[in-house]
Amino acid sequence: MGNVTVFSHPLIQHKLTLLRDENTGSRDFRALTNEIAMLMAYEVTRDLPVEPVEVNTPMGTTTGVQLSGKKLALVPILRAGLGMVDGMLNILPAAKVGHVGLYRDPNTLRPVEYYCKLPADIVERSILVLDPMLATGGSASAAIQFLKNRGCKGIKLICLIAAPEGVAVIERDHPGVDIFIAGLDEKLNDHGYILPGLGDAGDRLFGTK
Ligand code: PRP
Ligand code: URA
Repeated sequence: MGNVTVFSHPLIQHKLTLLRDENTGSRDFRALTNEIAMLMAYEVTRDLPVEPVEVNTPMGTTTGVQLSGKKLALVPILRAGLGMVDGMLNILPAAKVGHVGLYRDPNTLRPVEYYCKLPADIVERSILVLDPMLATGGSASAAIQFLKNRGCKGIKLICLIAAPEGVAVIERDHPGVDIFIAGLDEKLNDHGYILPGLGDAGDRLFGTK
C-alpha cells in the first residue's frame, strides 16, 4: 500500500479507541471525531510549501515563514464527513468547504449522489476529502472522481478508519491520491461494515439510530 499513511500518534490512537467504544454517546463521538480530525490536519499539512517573509516584532525585524502555494479546500462527504470539518477548520481557518452528498444504497452498496456544492475556485485549491469511514471505497472513489471530472487536482483522502478493501479500491481508481487514516481494520462484513470498525459513523454522530 504505497500512498497510505496510518497515524500512530498516541493521542490519535487513544481518541480512536474511545470513538470505537459502543458506550460512547453522540456528544462525545462528535467531540472525539473533531479532535482526531484536528490532529490529522496537523500531520496531513506537514508538506505544505512555505516562503520566507520579514516580520517586525516589537523588538526588531526578523525573517519568518508563511504558507505559500495553493490554498486549501475541505470536501466532506455527507453526512458523516461533516463530523470532521470543524476540527480541521480549527487549525485551517482559511480553508473553504465544499460538500458532496453521497449515500450507500443498502442493497447494492453503490454510492448514490444527492448533493454537490463546491467553492467557485475549487480547481485552484488543494483538496482534502473527508469521510470517517472508508469501507468498500465506493463513496470516496465516486467523490474523488466527481472532483476530478470538474478539473480538480492535488486531492488527498482523510478517513478515520479504513478497511483494506476500501484502500485497494482507491489505490486502483485513483493511484495519485494519498490516503491518510487513523486505523486500518481487518475486513468488511457481508453488509459492507468495517470490522471491528465503530458501527455506523453517521448514525453515531447525529444520533439517528
Ligand atoms: C458511510 C460513510 C461513507 C460510506 C463508506 O456513509 O460515511 O461515506 O458509508 O462506505 P463505502 O466505502 O462502502 O462507500 P453512509 O452511506 O452510511 O451515509 P451517511 O454518511 O449519510 O450516514
Ligand atoms: N459506513 C459506516 O458508517 N460504517 C461502516 O463500517 C461502513 C460504512
